[in-house]
Amino acid sequence: MSKQPAHNHVVLEARSVTKHFPVRRTGRDLLAGRRRTVHAVDDVSLELRRGTVTALVGESGSGKSTVARLLAQLYPLTGGEIRLDGTAVKAARGRSFRAYVRRVQIVFQDPFASLNPVHTVRYHLTRALRIHGRAGSGEAELEERLTALLERVQLTPPQQYLDRFPHELSGGQRQRVAIARALGADPQVLLADEPVSMLDVSIRLGVLNLLKDLKDRLRLAILYITHDIASARYFADTTLVMYAGRIVEGGDSETVTQHPAHPYTQLLIASAPDPDRVVAESEQKETGSGEPPSLIAPPAGCRFHPRCPKALERCRTEPPPRFDLEGGQWAACWLYADGGADRATGRGDDGADHTQKEAAK
Ligand SMILES: Nc1ncnc2c1ncn2[C@@H]1O[C@H](COP(=O)(O)OP(=O)(O)OP(=O)(O)O)[C@@H](O)[C@H]1O
Ligand SMILES: [Mg+2]
Repeated sequence: MSKQPAHNHVVLEARSVTKHFPVRRTGRDLLAGRRRTVHAVDDVSLELRRGTVTALVGESGSGKSTVARLLAQLYPLTGGEIRLDGTAVKAARGRSFRAYVRRVQIVFQDPFASLNPVHTVRYHLTRALRIHGRAGSGEAELEERLTALLERVQLTPPQQYLDRFPHELSGGQRQRVAIARALGADPQVLLADEPVSMLDVSIRLGVLNLLKDLKDRLRLAILYITHDIASARYFADTTLVMYAGRIVEGGDSETVTQHPAHPYTQLLIASAPDPDRVVAESEQKETGSGEPPSLIAPPAGCRFHPRCPKALERCRTEPPPRFDLEGGQWAACWLYADGGADRATGRGDDGADHTQKEAAK
C-alpha cells in the first residue's frame, strides 16, 4: 500500500463555517423583542483529503451532524465558506446542487430510515445510478453496474440481494446498501454520520473495514462522525474533536488518542470504558463530569471552561485560538499559549498555575 502523493489532495474544505439556528420565539421573547439562536457550529475549519478518513468526534449535541449537513449543502451556512477542489461553493440549487451531490455523498446513521421499505435493493440502486447519469445504456449495462455496486460493498453474490426488500436484510446489510447507493454517484467524498452506531457491536467492525477498503480502493475522502473516540483511533487517519459547536483539537489519530492535548479530549478518553475495545457500545452519550453547555447562550471564553479541571482565568473570557503542537497536532486551549507544551498531555501536570474554579454542576 504505497502512498501516492495525490492522497494528500484536499477535496472538500470548510473554512470558519458557522451555523446558527433560530429558536422558536416564546411570548417572553416577543415582549423583549428578542431573537435567540442555537450556536450549533461556530468557526469550524476542516479539510477532507483523498484516500483519508477524518474522524469528527464529540458528544451528543456538539454539532457533528450539523457539520456533515453543511458539508453536504443540506443547510445554508450562517457564515464562512465551503470549498470543493479549492473553489468556494455557492449555495447550490437545482442543477448545481446535483453536480455537487455527485461529488459529495452522505450516509446516515439509520439505514432503515434512509431506505424506502416498499422498494427493493434493485430499485434503490437503479434510481441512484439514473439520477447521476451512470445507469449506462440498456438493460445489460445497468445489470452490470448494479452487480458491481453490490460487489463493491461485499454483498455477494449480488443476485441474492438485488430483489430483496430492506426488511429482508440485516442492519449491516442495509447499511451496505445505503453505502452502495451513495457510491452510485461515484463520489469523491463520503460523509458518514455515525454509520455504525445503530448496528450490533458484532457487525460494526465489518462495516468500518468496508469503508476503509473503499477509502483505499476508490481513494475516497471520508468524514467519519462518531462519539466513540476509540473507533476513531482504529479507523481514522486524522481525528478532530468537537465540543459545543467548535473543534477543540486535531491531529493524526494515533497522537490525538494516545497523547490528547485538550482537557476535553483527555476527559473523553479517560471516560471511555475500555481503551482496547475497537468498536464498542457507547450508550452513555454524556461524557465526564458536568453537562454540555447551552448552545443558545454558550459560555464566554472557552466553551469548555465550566467543566475544565485546568481552566485558567483567561479561559472564562477569551476564546482560545489554535495552538500548534508537535507533529501537526493542535489544540484550541490556553494551556498551550507561550509554548506550554510540557503540560501538553496532561501527564506531567504540575498544577502550578491552575485557577481553581467552582465547577458548574
Ligand atoms: N434543524 C435544527 N433546528 C434547530 N436546532 C438544531 C437543528 N439541528 C440541530 N440543532 C441543534 O444544534 C445542536 C447540534 O446538533 P447536532 O445534531 O449537529 O449534534 P450532534 O453532535 O450530531 O449530536 P448527536 O451525537 O446527538 O447526533 C443541538 O443543540 C441541536 O439541538
Ligand atoms: Mg448527530
